[in-house]
Amino acid sequence: MTNQLPIPATSEPFAAGREADVFLLDDGRVLRRYRTAADTAHEAEIMAYAASHGYPVPAVYAASGPDMVMERLHGPTMAEAALAGDLALEDGAVMLADLLRRLHELPPRGSGSRDTIVHLDLHPENVLITERGPVVIDWRNAGDGPGDLDTALSALIIAQVAIGSIEHPLGASIDAMLDRFLELAPGDPVRLLDDAAAYRRGQLTMSPDEIAMIGTAVARVRAGVR
Ligand SMILES: Nc1ncnc2c1ncn2[C@@H]1O[C@H](COP(=O)(O)OP(=O)(O)O)[C@@H](O)[C@H]1O
Ligand SMILES: [Mg+2]
Repeated sequence: MTNQLPIPATSEPFAAGREADVFLLDDGRVLRRYRTAADTAHEAEIMAYAASHGYPVPAVYAASGPDMVMERLHGPTMAEAALAGDLALEDGAVMLADLLRRLHELPPRGSGSRDTIVHLDLHPENVLITERGPVVIDWRNAGDGPGDLDTALSALIIAQVAIGSIEHPLGASIDAMLDRFLELAPGDPVRLLDDAAAYRRGQLTMSPDEIAMIGTAVARVRAGVR
């Protein structure tokens, strides 16, 4: 692909998610590369907007096609910290709720718009716990939209893990995080839950088994809202 940035011979695969591989460029920078064709321009724009308002995101240095060069963050994901016993799941829930609230309180980008900035994939794998506090990564789905959709998606994703639909080392223990999250989360976590379920069903990263159990995850979220 012509628009890919060169990876220096010294770089090593550093981490990988469902959609991207991350390479260490040097101590201060990583290269995140989507495995399938994607354009990071929109994502980089939202990240820069959030950063300009003091929201915790990695600084973006370059975005070209599937590649993004950004600030290297030091620290575990929220999920890793919880698994290591360094972060209580309830405290993780407080952090997630706070990160969503702060995001939804940013000024809307379009004048007169009632939409806010939404991430639409804010869960414990997409938060890194750093010295400057929790920092949000993986802005692929981010854009302008209703905050309640974002809150519903976070709840739904956590519920998918809680019911065992998405396999994750935290497993059913994440139940405690979900209930606390539902208590603290900004907005109304069920108002747009059906839209969140539809959005989730349409995601290419979801397996047929995961899609088949979305309804059960929706029911788990509803059961957690008092
Ligand atoms: N700026 C960064 N600094 C350090 N590590 C990062 C950074 N961005 C991503 N990572 C690492 O790469 C992993 C996958 O990144 P992510 O953006 O979530 O990709 P995916 O879309 O594949 O989930 C993260 O869990 C984290 O370990
Ligand atoms: Mg991710």
